[in-house]
Amino acid sequence: MLLKRICWVFTLVIAASASLHAGPTKEAGKELFMANCASCHNKNMKDNLTGPALAGVEDRWAAFPRKDLYAWIRNSQALIATGHPYANEVWGKYKPTLMNNFPALTDEQIESMILFINEPGGPPPPPPPPGGAAAEEEGLPWLFIGLAGTLLLLAFALMRIVNNLSNVSRAKDGLPPTEKTAYQLLTTKGAIAFLVFATVLIFGYKAVDNATRMGREQNYKPDQPINFSHKIHAGINKIDCQYCHDTARRSKQSGIPGANTCMNCHTAVKKGTISGTGEITKIFASIGYDPITGKYMDGYDNWSEKQIEDLYKKWIGQEYMSANSLTALDENGKSVVENQWEGIVKALKDDSNGKIQGPIEWTRVHNLPDHAYFNHSQHVAVGQVACQKCHGKVEEMDVVFQYSTLGMGWCISCHRETEVKFKDNDYYKQYERYHDELKSGKRDKVTVEDIGGLECQKCHY
Ligand code: HEC
Ligand code: HEC
Ligand code: HEC
Ligand code: HEC
Ligand code: HEC
Ligand code: HEC
Repeated sequence: MLLKRICWVFTLVIAASASLHAGPTKEAGKELFMANCASCHNKNMKDNLTGPALAGVEDRWAAFPRKDLYAWIRNSQALIATGHPYANEVWGKYKPTLMNNFPALTDEQIESMILFINEPGGPPPPPPPPGGAAAEEEGLPWLFIGLAGTLLLLAFALMRIVNNLSNVSRAKDGLPPTEKTAYQLLTTKGAIAFLVFATVLIFGYKAVDNATRMGREQNYKPDQPINFSHKIHAGINKIDCQYCHDTARRSKQSGIPGANTCMNCHTAVKKGTISGTGEITKIFASIGYDPITGKYMDGYDNWSEKQIEDLYKKWIGQEYMSANSLTALDENGKSVVENQWEGIVKALKDDSNGKIQGPIEWTRVHNLPDHAYFNHSQHVAVGQVACQKCHGKVEEMDVVFQYSTLGMGWCISCHRETEVKFKDNDYYKQYERYHDELKSGKRDKVTVEDIGGLECQKCHY
């Protein structure tokens, strides 16, 4: 009976936490779409991809039961074979190109993808509140509160067990049983101590969290003027880090590539799978490239904002299917073209020259204090340390963030542990003694510390 009750409490808690994630979500939809459909379909671009753009797909299937759309996605040929009128119409336009079958997709997963497809292709959602820390961390205190709640319920159930057990022994002694009310149970010493403990845990967590963030900004992930994804470039498209950060090998600074580097590819790739014209047009607007004619514009520096606006609105407008995206309004009553143009202005105009033209001003993620000296080429070219050792798996990050603490302790402990690649590295020729010691077996390795990596003046001006 009691055990049943405990089970029941648990079931409730689990059900409650599961319900937080149940149902289709845009995020899940995006992931599914990118993994299964993006190779042939674009969300809302007119494009020469294999399949049709999917924006507005819900409307096109609206005349039929929802399950027909599910059936299409799971096995389009089977639905065509039933003589389904719309399925045959689409097939008529695209045959003999076949769509893959996705028999394993659930209704919910398909609904998730439709949510993603329906999302307007405008600029990204508003920036997270200032302070820089990643927005998803906001969720953490709630996790703690949820946890505390669960523990509280558990404590409550245990107290009932104690109460019942004591009643059993009271019965043995011939005393009448006591039934404590919920209020009585909650005001026992144990319960109060527990509540205090939980409160301290929650607020203590917040306080420590804020304090550590103030000093150094590990995980710092500022908003950038363009949604540039390392995952798409360095990950999926396997572009070498040094193709863009080409000075890392040669100089102190690793540097951020200029728009010219981007244009090596983006004269050809004018639209993105995720953002359509929304983000890549910002590169064009910064250096005056006309994507319609494929030419750079003369005297772009002297163009008025109105001229720039006309050009890029025309470009964005012609690239969207007028039926869906142009007339689709967001919650502020703006069209996709208007939205994207505003995104361009916001990204490019508020920089030092007050104009749209000019370099893209990226927000620095890493920033050592002035008194510390760090040199990339020393680490990348001489030390042969991989970028990922210090920056994490950048090729998996959509938005790059500060992976390491960058504190002095971090530098020092790596210098203590890391063996320098002494052999066949000209840079270390001068260290004759170490070479001799290595040869004679007196020493089995040379660390960065051994070559002076812990000397203050090496890192401090
Ligand atoms: C191999 C390429 C390919 C992949 C992958 C693919 N499709 Fe398709 N899809 C097509 C083609 C081609 C058509 C046009 C009809 C035809 O030829 O069968 C189409 C048509 C459609 C249609 C009907 C379009 C309309 O305007 O009503 C929907 C809906 C659809 N696909 C959804 C999806 C979803 C969802 C996925 C991912 C789970 C997906 N497709 C993956 C090629 C693909
Ligand atoms: C296609 C060009 C490109 C490639 C390839 C690329 N990056 Fe970047 N990287 C950028 C741009 C643009 C920025 C500035 C925007 C941003 O911070 O997201 C940047 C920023 C960074 C930053 C943060 C700089 C700061 O502000 O402190 C790091 C670290 C970084 N890249 C590391 C890497 C590593 C490691 C790789 C290889 C795995 C790599 N990048 C590949 C273009 C590129
Ligand atoms: C070596 C080639 C190359 C370089 C250099 C390059 N890109 Fe890309 N970029 C790509 C490819 C490939 C895609 C994927 C296009 C797609 O989504 O189908 C892409 C996509 C994008 C997207 C759109 C992502 C989406 O799906 O919406 C943006 C924004 C972007 N790049 C920005 C930049 C910026 C900024 C630079 C310069 C710092 C840059 N790229 C340099 C090849 C490159
Ligand atoms: C030994 C650690 C380490 C390695 C290896 C390393 N970085 Fe860095 N990186 C840093 C530190 C520390 C900073 C901050 C420098 C500053 O603020 O002066 C930084 C800053 C950057 C920046 C911001 C611009 C700048 O130069 O300050 C970029 C971009 C970058 N790194 C890219 C790379 C790439 C690409 C590689 C690999 C080719 C790489 N890093 C390898 C530690 C490292
Ligand atoms: C992942 C390991 C690693 C981290 C982290 C690291 N370093 Fe290094 N560092 C090395 C290696 C390996 C060398 C050896 C390269 C060489 O011989 O110059 C080196 C060499 C140096 C040197 C030259 C030492 C000498 O005697 O010539 C300086 C200066 C330096 N690092 C500064 C820093 C600073 C500042 C930081 C922190 C912001 C840092 N390093 C973080 C691995 C690291
Ligand atoms: C391998 C590089 C390296 C060496 C060697 C090194 N430091 Fe630092 N030091 C740093 C870096 C990086 C910072 C900045 C850390 C930060 O921003 O929190 C720093 C910060 C400091 C600070 C400021 C306090 C702080 O936390 O910001 C002092 C003081 C300092 N170092 C003293 C020294 C002294 C004294 C030595 C020699 C015994 C030394 N350092 C050796 C890299 C080094």
